Amino acid sequence: MLIGDRVTLREVSWGDLAARQEWFSDPDVTRYLGWIDGVPVPYLQDDSSGSIEWTVALGDSGEPIGIAQLGKVDPLAGQASFGIVIGRKDQWRQGIGAAVTRLVLTYAFEVAGLNRVWLTVETRHELARRLYEREGFVSEGVLRQARQTQDGLQDVSVMGILRSEWEARQHRAT
Ligand SMILES: CC(C)(COP(=O)(O)OP(=O)(O)OC[C@H]1O[C@@H](n2cnc3c(N)ncnc32)[C@H](O)[C@@H]1OP(=O)(O)O)[C@@H](O)C(=O)NCCC(=O)NCCS
Repeated sequence: MLIGDRVTLREVSWGDLAARQEWFSDPDVTRYLGWIDGVPVPYLQDDSSGSIEWTVALGDSGEPIGIAQLGKVDPLAGQASFGIVIGRKDQWRQGIGAAVTRLVLTYAFEVAGLNRVWLTVETRHELARRLYEREGFVSEGVLRQARQTQDGLQDVSVMGILRSEWEARQHRAT
């Protein structure tokens, strides 16, 4: 379990299922997620063992509000992909996405000992790209028309943060 000031990342439980179904029925939440066979997929399809998924819960009430993931774990290169969905729209734009990103990066670099965390985000999803940039992710390139979405094929930006960059940010913050 990862505990932040306002949010907790905890193990996924069966009790989270109803909330998840609600989030993934909301077109505002799924707008920028990939679609496979007409169904939104929360983030990268995970095809490797060792991935970790958390339920994002509010720190005070424990209420589930989203999902975070480190997937596609590659132990040889010491890297994994990051995915985040805050499913409760009423919780957007309060710094929760940033808090979750920081918690996951802290886990990735300090606990799991990874060297690189990367993600993909549609280029048109500017709010998410700004969030990732603020938290230290660097744009590494654009994959053109690489994601099928409910609005058709979209360009996808690959972003990543290296351990050295994360450590430099920690150093600057102290
Ligand atoms: C993208 C997503 C994770 C962002 O989460 P969030 O909790 O809204 O993120 P934050 O609150 O940290 O930052 C978002 C904005 O709120 C602003 N903000 C943060 N705290 C704030 C506060 N207290 N008051 C006002 N605005 C605030 C941030 O500055 C940022 O705005 P800006 O970039 O326009 O300047 C969330 O919208 C989401 O899960 N969407 C659906 C799924 C999705 O698209 N996932 C990402 C796929 S790549």
